[in-house]
Amino acid sequence: TPEREPVAPGDLIVYAQGDRAGQPVNASDLEPGQRQVIAYPMNPQTRVVKGEEPANTLLLLRLEAASLTAETARHAAGGVVAYSGVCTHLGCIVSNWIADKQLLFCPCHGAQYDPRDRAKALVVAPKPLPQLPIRVEDGVLVVAGEFQGPVGPPT
Ligand code: FES
Repeated sequence: TPEREPVAPGDLIVYAQGDRAGQPVNASDLEPGQRQVIAYPMNPQTRVVKGEEPANTLLLLRLEAASLTAETARHAAGGVVAYSGVCTHLGCIVSNWIADKQLLFCPCHGAQYDPRDRAKALVVAPKPLPQLPIRVEDGVLVVAGEFQGPVGPPT
């Protein structure tokens, strides 16, 4: 079904949850250091939100641009980065944020990832969350490439 199509370059990125679910995320909506926004890709032609495929769950956040490693910055839009939201431990959504350390945190078993450095796994998880290249187009966030690695737990 169209709701399960994989994320593709050119897709708009929309809020997955809350009052603005289904609306495109403006780059200016994101404040540096704030917790991640959970998002889905949307087909820009049909406007179908591809939210029924768990592997399409995305995390978006803005960090200080100067704090990103070179590799991470290459796929970011200024300080805005996007990663797969699927924990590489056992597949929960990485929905929590450790504000004082600026780390992504999985509520299931405590995996932590550093969003400034390719979401490398610090504890519990076996590998990073793959980064998704993004760009800003007319103020909104758009997918600019493929995931930089496999999504979810190793099979
Ligand atoms: Fe995320 Fe286990 S599924 S820590």
